[in-house]
Amino acid sequence: MRRKVIAGNWKMNNDLQQSVNLIEELKSKLANKTLNCDVVICPPFTSLYEAKKIIDGSIIKLGAQNMFYEDSGAFTGEISASMLKSVGCEYVILGHSERRTIFGEKDEMINKKVRKAISQNLKPILCVGETLEEREKDVTEKVVKRQIEKGLNYVTPDEVLNVIIAYEPVWAIGTGKTATPEQAQEVHAFIRKLLASMYSKDFAELIPIQYGGSVKPDNAKELLSQKDIDGALVGGACLKADSFIGIIDAA
Ligand code: 13P
Repeated sequence: MRRKVIAGNWKMNNDLQQSVNLIEELKSKLANKTLNCDVVICPPFTSLYEAKKIIDGSIIKLGAQNMFYEDSGAFTGEISASMLKSVGCEYVILGHSERRTIFGEKDEMINKKVRKAISQNLKPILCVGETLEEREKDVTEKVVKRQIEKGLNYVTPDEVLNVIIAYEPVWAIGTGKTATPEQAQEVHAFIRKLLASMYSKDFAELIPIQYGGSVKPDNAKELLSQKDIDGALVGGACLKADSFIGIIDAA
């Protein structure tokens, strides 16, 4: 059985004090719950160290939103995998569509990041997904296939068990337009089949595939009850404790 993973991608929101407030509220509201899913928060870099101190001893785990693939050196503005480890991160979101479109990240670079993360015992959350134009041209599967094959290039079967895939159709991110549960399930099933062909059916069954794109408490249950949807990567709705917890409850 795959365990569902509910992750909150805070994006560029919340300064240090706002982060502390939100994490303390989350921690206290989750304290009495027995959960059958993993909960991950991905605040901005500037809040990670304090975040770790607050979540210690709770069920909340920590992730970052990006990293660079080199270990150290003259890479102004970048953060390495070992830096993330040193502040207590267990996960790192890689290849988010905002990184791909706004910052020009290509599959080859994302692949280097994925491999570096794995080598440093960070679990990459590899984001894939088609734009509206690509969906309308009926090339969703082609795009997702390329992103996954290139993103997981040279990743061995043993290593891939540390990877989470997040399917985030770009047209559903921050737009309020969610993929229908059936639309999402169709792509998730395609991804699982692709992973089976790249690795094996058994391995593919073990890899969590999250859905992301306008997930909210009122649509989470239907999405998360789909056979191949193993969690959610949540943007807007993770910025308020109650709506994030509503999604966790649905899982
Ligand atoms: P929204 O939930 O705001 O649509 O964002 C989804 C996302 O990009 C998560 O990584």
